[in-house]
Amino acid sequence: MKIATLAALVASVPAVSAQLHALAKNAGLLYFGTAVGPGDSRDAPYYALSNDIKNFGQYTPDNAQKWDATEPQRGRFQYTQADAIVNRAIANKMIMRCHTLVWYSQLPSWVSSGSWTKDTMTSVMQTHISNVMGHFKSKCYAWDVVNEALEDNGTYRNNPFLKALGDSYFALSFKFAAAADPDTKLYYNDYNLEYFPVKADGAVRIVKLVQAAGVPIHGVGLQAHMTVGRTPSRSNLTWTLEKYTSLGLDVAYTELDVRIKPLPSNSSSLQAQAKEYEAIVGSCLDVPRCVGITVWGFGDAHSWIPQTFPGAGDSCLFDKNSKPKPAFSSVSAILASASGKRVPWGSKPTSLVSATSVVATSAPVVQTTVVMLPSKTSTKVAVTSVA
Ligand code: XIL
Repeated sequence: MKIATLAALVASVPAVSAQLHALAKNAGLLYFGTAVGPGDSRDAPYYALSNDIKNFGQYTPDNAQKWDATEPQRGRFQYTQADAIVNRAIANKMIMRCHTLVWYSQLPSWVSSGSWTKDTMTSVMQTHISNVMGHFKSKCYAWDVVNEALEDNGTYRNNPFLKALGDSYFALSFKFAAAADPDTKLYYNDYNLEYFPVKADGAVRIVKLVQAAGVPIHGVGLQAHMTVGRTPSRSNLTWTLEKYTSLGLDVAYTELDVRIKPLPSNSSSLQAQAKEYEAIVGSCLDVPRCVGITVWGFGDAHSWIPQTFPGAGDSCLFDKNSKPKPAFSSVSAILASASGKRVPWGSKPTSLVSATSVVATSAPVVQTTVVMLPSKTSTKVAVTSVA
């Protein structure tokens, strides 16, 4: 890379107040958000940023709503950690994406090593979904109902749900979810859909199965755990998103990070990372039904990547001291360049707009419309990676 280009980029890294969520809303997205976890409050600058709605208008709990956290023993539900996050979102007037209900990982052993028949598994799934969604009813803009049900080659991942119920577990999960909270958006969520067309088509198959059963499904979440040097082009990413919007669904980037390997990162890998973040965010801006973007943590000190992918890291928009990186600058710039160019979510037909009780209406953004509210006011890690 040319030194002058890097110097210009570094010089243009804006102050932390550059307002990702505010810029995203101006660009017609519903939110720019982040995963949050219990460790956040131990890092004061990080915590302050995470509570700043100008930057983050949406939260996803990193672990607190998973099965092992919410129903560690059969029929015993606990929500203390997740409640703390949801209450933070409500206090900050942020949107909640809730995550996740039916997933092979972070399952308590009573589920993963139980021996289940069709009927007993149906009952276990229904009890779990209705309790957890019931507890958070009308507080979640969206739920990741089924997570990571596909192998990278597009076949169904062998998990306790598939074993007991075959592919009928997809429609069943969404049916139980729709019954538990009819006002939330129900998503299928997975990783590497961006990389492997055969896997992306597997998700199309799942969507069609659910639709054919006459059960609601509203969106596909693309996790977007990417690797520098391997991120597809903006147009390629747009093509993948459109596979789902052409089925009448919303799409969202739900767990974005772009990891660097090898470490330490340097000016050239940070610059490449900035460009790749820009392509991903740009592809969402290119697709009218791309709802928003969630990063899976925004600071390198808080990322799950180094633990899960040894030798990789520095995957976030902010560095270990919560200082903005070139990727922060490129994301801010691409969002700013789309200002006023997309139809804002708040002025889309109601069928496309969120039904939620926790909507960021107070973000200090220049937007003439507001999100329409409904009548109510509103381990073991899964990613196998392509690295
Ligand atoms: C990760 C968490 O961030 C880690 O803290 C945990 O140890 C493992 O799970 N796909 C998902 C997320 O859907 O729930 C995962 O979160 C990352 C991959």
